[in-house]
Amino acid sequence: MENPLKVVHGDSREAIKAIPDDTFQCVITSPPYWGVRDYGVGGQIGAEPDLNDYIQDLVSIFSEVRRVLKPDGTFWLNIGNTYTSGGRKWRQEDGKNKGRAMSYRPPTPEGLKKKDLIGVAWMLAMACQLDGWYLRNDIIWHKPNCQPESVKDRLTVSHEYMFLFTKSERYFFDQQSIKEQFQNGNGKKNERTIWSINTEPCPEAHFAVFPRALVRPCVLAGTKPDDLILDPFYGAGTVGMVSKELGRRCVGIELNPDFIEIAKRRTDAIQASLIHLV
Ligand SMILES: C[S@@+](CC[C@H](N)C(=O)[O-])C[C@H]1O[C@@H](n2cnc3c(N)ncnc32)[C@H](O)[C@@H]1O
Repeated sequence: MENPLKVVHGDSREAIKAIPDDTFQCVITSPPYWGVRDYGVGGQIGAEPDLNDYIQDLVSIFSEVRRVLKPDGTFWLNIGNTYTSGGRKWRQEDGKNKGRAMSYRPPTPEGLKKKDLIGVAWMLAMACQLDGWYLRNDIIWHKPNCQPESVKDRLTVSHEYMFLFTKSERYFFDQQSIKEQFQNGNGKKNERTIWSINTEPCPEAHFAVFPRALVRPCVLAGTKPDDLILDPFYGAGTVGMVSKELGRRCVGIELNPDFIEIAKRRTDAIQASLIHLV
């Protein structure tokens, strides 16, 4: 059987330009968050000193994503909000989470104050909508095992978003595949917009990877077996793992070659779905 996974080493801003229009049924991704982690490679998204440049960089990439998405395709975007740096110039390494360190912290964006919550997730969602995407859902990814925070004057953040965008008004969506059983066992109901899913550690990666349970409903609702999925920020390859597991094909784009090696090890360890083989 032909390998269902392909990884392109490069900057997604450039690499995506070589992909023909209307290639993918579904795109699932989590871009680097603004000023939160150092992925150790030049050209990385998320290191822009100006928040507006970060949003603009992502909107441009996602505009290309819309071009390479089939007209009836779906785009699932995971992103969380962050806080202004409160005047600190760098982020200390976190013992549990080594990637969570930066040699700099971006300055407080104009108009915001120290300690402000930057609604960057919603800024990005709104900018994508204005750019032409249909915004269809804001799914709350609730993390029951979220990282504790030593804050004394606000709540510990335990959620991020998964935005569902589409290219057209009508699109492929397999509602049936992700329906939930009613608690009394009498039939099924539509999946709801709050997903409680524990984070999954990936000791090799030093950065936050998708839990597979977060990716599965996107793949199931967004594709049929053998369909082609794109992740333009492939990281340690979780979208590839789930694609393989569910008998779909996947293309990943990733800037850091070390992460491509990690992704290869992780996806090689996944048993391809039988659906794909029949
Ligand atoms: C949040 S991580 C993705 C993790 C992934 N969802 C997983 O489960 O492993 C973001 C990834 O984007 C990559 N990246 C940053 N800038 C990039 C760029 N310009 N082009 C391609 N990849 C980039 C980083 O190296 C990192 O691996």
